[in-house]
Formats: sequence, C-alpha cells, structure tokens
Amino acid sequence: MSDGLEGVVAAETVLSEVDGEAGRLVIRGYPVSALSGHITAEQATHLLLDGFFDDLPDAAGLAAALGRARAEVFAEVAALDDHLGALSTIEGVRALMARLADGDDLAVALRLIAAPAVFTPAVSRRKSGLQPLAPDPTLGHAADVLRMIKGQPAGPAEVDALNAYLVTVCDHGLNASTFAARVVASTLAGLTSAAVTGISALKGPLHGGAPGPVIEMLDAIGRPENARAWLEAAIDRGDRLMGFGHRVYRVRDPRADALKRAVKVLGEGSNSLPGRLAFAEAVEQAALAVLKERKPNRSLDTNVELYTALLLEALAFPPDAFTCVFAIGRVAGWIAHAREQVLGGRLIRPQSVYIGPAPLAAA
Ligand code: SDX
Repeated sequence: MSDGLEGVVAAETVLSEVDGEAGRLVIRGYPVSALSGHITAEQATHLLLDGFFDDLPDAAGLAAALGRARAEVFAEVAALDDHLGALSTIEGVRALMARLADGDDLAVALRLIAAPAVFTPAVSRRKSGLQPLAPDPTLGHAADVLRMIKGQPAGPAEVDALNAYLVTVCDHGLNASTFAARVVASTLAGLTSAAVTGISALKGPLHGGAPGPVIEMLDAIGRPENARAWLEAAIDRGDRLMGFGHRVYRVRDPRADALKRAVKVLGEGSNSLPGRLAFAEAVEQAALAVLKERKPNRSLDTNVELYTALLLEALAFPPDAFTCVFAIGRVAGWIAHAREQVLGGRLIRPQSVYIGPAPLAAA
C-alpha cells in the first residue's frame, strides 16, 4: 500500500501535468509561465472546459456567460444569516455553494465557477459588517471580484495581478481537492456535489489552507533578523512551515516564481510592497536553510503558498478569505476534472487491506 497514495497513478488526464522532479507544470500543453500573467481567468477556464461541454461558447462568449452566472448566483447571498456569518469565510462560502442545484450541464458548471467569486466577497464583507455588493456582469471575472470585495473599481494592475493568480492555480493534476472532486463525480452525483467536495478538501491547512497561516508566520517573525531563530523553534516544536514542502515537487514549485513576478509587477505601483517582498524573500532563504539542516533527507522547497499570501495580502483580501480566493481559481479545474471523469472514467473504488480483529466464528 502507498501511504497517502504517494506515487500512485489514479487517472489519465488531458488537463495538466505536474513534473515533480523537473519542477514543471503544464496546463493543456502550455507551461504555467506562458499562461500566468498572459491570459485572463476566463480564458484559462475556457482552456480547461474545452471539449467537455458540447455547447461551450468561445472565450468571449464564456466570459459574458460567466458574468451572467455571477449575477444569477448572487440570489443565494440572501441566505447569508447570522449563523453563516459567524462561521469561517470558507465554511460560509461552502454552505452557499451547497445551495446550488446539482446537475451536469454547462449552466450548472458556470454557476459553480461563478459561485466562489461572488460568495467570497459577500461573506467577507458581511463579516466586516458591510453589505454584500451585487456582481456587475459587464466586468471581467477578476475585476468584478475585486470590485465586490473592495466596494470600488480596482485598478488595472490589481486586476492583472488577480488574473495572474487565478490562472496560476486553476489546475494542478490530482491534488487532494481535485482527486476528491473526481471521486464524487465518478458516482454521477453531479457537479455541485463535486465542487462542494473540492472546496471542503481545499480547506485543510496541508492543502489550500496554508496561505493564511503564511501571513501569521511573517507577522510573528516580524523582522528578517528574527527569522532563523523563529523558524528553528517552529521546526523543533514539530510545526510545518507553511508555504514549504510538497508531495510531488522535489524542487521549487514553478508557481512560486510566477506569483513572485506578479507581486513584483504589482509592487511597481506601491510604496510598501517592495519592502514586504524583500522581507518575505529573507524569510524564504532562512526557511530553506533551516529545512535543509533539520530535514536533510527531504527535499523541502518553496511551494505555491508563500507568494500567494503576499499577493492576496497586497490585493487587500483578508487572510481568512485566502483559501476561498484559491477556490475562485481552482473551481474551474475541479469542474473540468469532474467532467473528464464522468465522460471517460468509471466509479472510483480502490481496495483496502483489513487489519482488524480476526473474524469471529459464525454463531
Ligand atoms: C498545496 O498536491 C498539490 O498539488 C497541492 C497544491 C495544489 O496546487 O493543489 O500544490 C497546493 O497544497 C501546496 C502545499 C500547501 N501546504 C503547505 O504549505 C503546508 C506545509 N507543507 C506540508 O505540510 C507538506 O509539505 C505537505 C503536506 C504539503 C506535503 O507533505 P508530505 O509529502 O505528505 O510529506 P510528509 O508530511 O510525509 O512529511 C515528510 C517529512 C516529515 O518529516 P519527518 O516526520 O519524516 O521528520 O517532511 C517534513 C515532515 O515533518 N515536512 C515538513 C514540511 N513539509 C514536510 N517539515 C517542516 N515544514 C514543512 N512544510
């Protein structure tokens, strides 16, 4: 048995390839560096969904349909009551997503892709005592998310930065949330069931729940000269350093550099971001040195979450919403994989080895 299914091939996919030895991510044949910072979230969504829905419009048509879907799902925000408002942001977003009718057609898929983009700003604003803002279907996906969370139009540099992030994280092979979504899709439960499963798996701190704690780590360290001692103490406590290590990458996650580039570009218009970036780089170097000393038998390098945290912080998302912003990008991947599983796969049902008590003799 492979612990955690490490190294087990569980599906063939046309969507993405994660080469852990080379540190390479390819999405539909394109290296992530050719997509991140070059296309929009809608174009990445079109790239992923292509071939899985007979009635898929062209990229421009998809962008317009996604705008309409954002306006449609906003009706669910009326269910945002004090109880949901008291939960964490991702639990509130998940609860609203679960209200969407299940199904397998493009209309269901678009509503699910629109859902985290609309519910994340709505839940975040309500948690801050502000009224949720209705979507503007005429805006691009990233621009509308930023407008809904900030309460005013975002500048082009911010829209470009969020697009770069959403594209960078849109798909990543059989990560835990995507695999979970495929398992549920394989039972023919429907796309809403698959997407709610995906966001549930993403919530975990070993997976998509890491970027928020990265900010906590940076704030706890405070200054570059404190980094080494703080990181050594964390490792010696048995803590995991958030933003480092990966089940597949044995070298630097290629998305770290894609997102670092997006932070640098965004920082060109900021007084504080270049300094914050320099501090994060100093912490990163100290962390890599400490991990090399303390875990010499493991290749633990920077993963996607370190510079994700810096980018989303610079875009003024609250840390409690970071994992939901991850879901805004990744939901297109969950939907594409779910469709690939339904159209070309069969029920996913692995075996297990029984190690319980010997069967009692029949009475
Ligand atoms: C994502 O799979 C994907 O593709 C996921 C993702 C995607 O796009 O969907 O890339 C997104 O989830 C990125 C990862 C975000 N998570 C974090 O940053 C949390 C910190 N990282 C770790 O918890 C860890 O690296 C994992 C969970 C990501 C991977 O761990 P593995 O492969 O299961 O390795 P392991 O838990 O078996 O650990 C092996 C050893 C252990 O040491 P020992 O007990 O053998 O002494 O490595 C150590 C671990 O303690 N280790 C770390 C560490 N990661 C592993 N020690 C300190 N800090 C870390 N970050």
